[in-house]
Amino acid sequence: MVAERARQIEISGIRRMFEGAPPDAVNLGLGEPDFDPPPAAIEALCRAVRDGRNHYGPSAGLPELREKIAERYRDRAPATGRENVIVTGSGSEGLAAVALTLYDTGDEVLVPNPGFVLYAPHARLAGATPVPYSLTERRRYLPDLDELERRVTSRTRAIVVNSPSNPTGTVFPRATVDRLVDFADRHDLTVVSDEVYEEIVYDGPATSFWGRSDRAIIVNSFSKTLAMTGWRIGFLVAPRALVPEINKVHYHLMACPSTPVQLAVLAGLAESDGAMREMVREFRARRTLVLRRLRSAPGVTVVPPAGAFYAFPRFAWQKSSAETAGELLARGVITTPGDAFGPLGASHLRLSFAASRADLHRGLSILGEYAAEQSGARR
Ligand SMILES: Cc1ncc(COP(=O)(O)O)c(C=O)c1O
Repeated sequence: MVAERARQIEISGIRRMFEGAPPDAVNLGLGEPDFDPPPAAIEALCRAVRDGRNHYGPSAGLPELREKIAERYRDRAPATGRENVIVTGSGSEGLAAVALTLYDTGDEVLVPNPGFVLYAPHARLAGATPVPYSLTERRRYLPDLDELERRVTSRTRAIVVNSPSNPTGTVFPRATVDRLVDFADRHDLTVVSDEVYEEIVYDGPATSFWGRSDRAIIVNSFSKTLAMTGWRIGFLVAPRALVPEINKVHYHLMACPSTPVQLAVLAGLAESDGAMREMVREFRARRTLVLRRLRSAPGVTVVPPAGAFYAFPRFAWQKSSAETAGELLARGVITTPGDAFGPLGASHLRLSFAASRADLHRGLSILGEYAAEQSGARR
């Protein structure tokens, strides 16, 4: 009744947590900023809809938005033009279009473990085999190049990378980016670089793969940077020769991105820098709060996230992350079990800073008490 490709993928473990939550629970499970889009974007969206801009547009996006995006990438590679850009119906759709364009049946794709929930299922939907590479606390969640060398085969088509990372918050140092570029070159792999959190960084800018590798495809989104997750709009930047190919698949997935939302993004970008600075300032303060509370929780260790808005603490008690998250949920705090992001997320929770400071205090108090009990029980 149902195709094998649908049967072999599962509902995301992130979404599952919300289903059993009590209504007054503190929510530290959100993967989206608790801010509104810039006022100019909201105004422009209303205006566009009222002015009748409610029709299909070009499948690769409005030329003026493609141009604006290209402009923002020229400091990384001066030759970047609108021919490198496709406006997508979100980062998620961009990732799907890239997977379906690049991967053939029987191909292998290196994906991070733990890593964002779409990479492995997208590879499977395209008929390829996801091959996880490890990100561990011991290596501060940076890829181990020796391990990558062991995992790569003649069938490997691409490596998916994500910096800043969901769920670990890791930002690759430039040397790591250069090593990964060199690795991809030597093995003739495409680098699919998910950079949706690139502007949400705390200790200095993130290094983009654009301009450092001519085989990189950058997947990006306005969801997080303009706080418009529900508007479903993103983009990708790719080598010119690949753009028409990806655009064909993108057309068959969604025809074109939303016209009024693109007009809203154009208006929002004009005033996004100030809003972005404000959002990052608030996330930075929350990060400090979260790290302080986590460090005082018995049996919990955490690597400070340098980007995105998640902490990914590891716990020492002998329970699964789903059981731990379930017990915390019963006490009134929603977290995301680490193994929703892959087997190496076991013994971890993902905590989102997209909650008020008061909620973070309340949620982390519950977690602290729980951690003390679990650690006491261990002795
Ligand atoms: C790492 C990463 N990539 C891509 C996405 C997709 O974002 P969207 O589809 O809202 O653009 C998310 C959303 O949580 C994410 O965390």
